Amino acid sequence: MSFRNISKEALAGSITLGVVLFAGYFFGKKKSSKMSIFKSHTEGKDNPLLQYVLNNSLREHPALKNLRLRTMEHSLNFIMVACEQSQFMANLAKLIKTKKALEIGVYTGYNTLSIALTLPDDGVIVACDITEEYANIGKPFWKEAGVEQKIDLRIQPALKTLEDLLSDGQAETFDFVFIDADKVNYDNYFEKSLKLLRKGGIIAIDNVLWSGKVVNPSPGDTDTLAIDKLNKKLHRDARISLSMLTVGDGLTIAIKL
Ligand SMILES: C[S@@+](CC[C@H](N)C(=O)[O-])C[C@H]1O[C@@H](n2cnc3c(N)ncnc32)[C@H](O)[C@@H]1O
Ligand SMILES: *[C@@H]1O[C@H](CO)[C@@H](O)[C@H](O)[C@H]1NC(C)=O
Repeated sequence: MSFRNISKEALAGSITLGVVLFAGYFFGKKKSSKMSIFKSHTEGKDNPLLQYVLNNSLREHPALKNLRLRTMEHSLNFIMVACEQSQFMANLAKLIKTKKALEIGVYTGYNTLSIALTLPDDGVIVACDITEEYANIGKPFWKEAGVEQKIDLRIQPALKTLEDLLSDGQAETFDFVFIDADKVNYDNYFEKSLKLLRKGGIIAIDNVLWSGKVVNPSPGDTDTLAIDKLNKKLHRDARISLSMLTVGDGLTIAIKL
């Protein structure tokens, strides 16, 4: 196609695109030390684009919304899963017809409730935390949603619960796992979860970008090093297919082959 045949609009469009890309390159460069993904309730609070995403896609069950608002009053609210990420995971869980789920790291149970709401009547989510303190904040909302009987809360180190499930003959029976507890155990959680998962089941792993620290981990930073090591291992792991998503603090989706 000759230059003369290109419409003025297309030409103007290309020039505009060029300017935008050029500007984006420079602004992007300036901000390169600051990683630009985040949760809607932390750094994303004042981000109009993320607010637009919520305004136009968030569909929270009333009890789930109440739990989110209650959790926002808690001092550790920044550790809560991002609601936009939780909704995505609930959709994924539903897509693969999840009946049996596992949550490693419950906090106030926002995601636990979000998944429980997608389960069929005979479904269950085994919810692991080392303390009941935060889950106690969430329990009234689990009840409000009418799904508390689907939530099997186990208070002890999550590794112990995973070992219990395996020795109880529950290998290959779980459909969906969310790993969101202490980072140094991430690899252990992944390996045990993979055993518990059926073929075609999904393991979602949170905080895989760890506020951008994974790009250049400090030598003594054991959390970042553990996450980075697992990220690199998963990339070449033939037992799964995967995607690393830039939602929230980074989310890896691993599908068992
Ligand atoms: C990031 S929060 C979980 C957030 C939660 N998934 C949500 O939907 O908001 C991490 C949780 O892991 C728990 N935790 C830390 N170490 C643990 C361990 N060894 N075993 C089980 N839970 C642990 C903490 O008590 C905390 O509640
Ligand atoms: C999102 O919705 C709130 C409440 O209706 C509104 O104030 C805000 O301007 C909206 N933001 C965007 C970017 O759509």
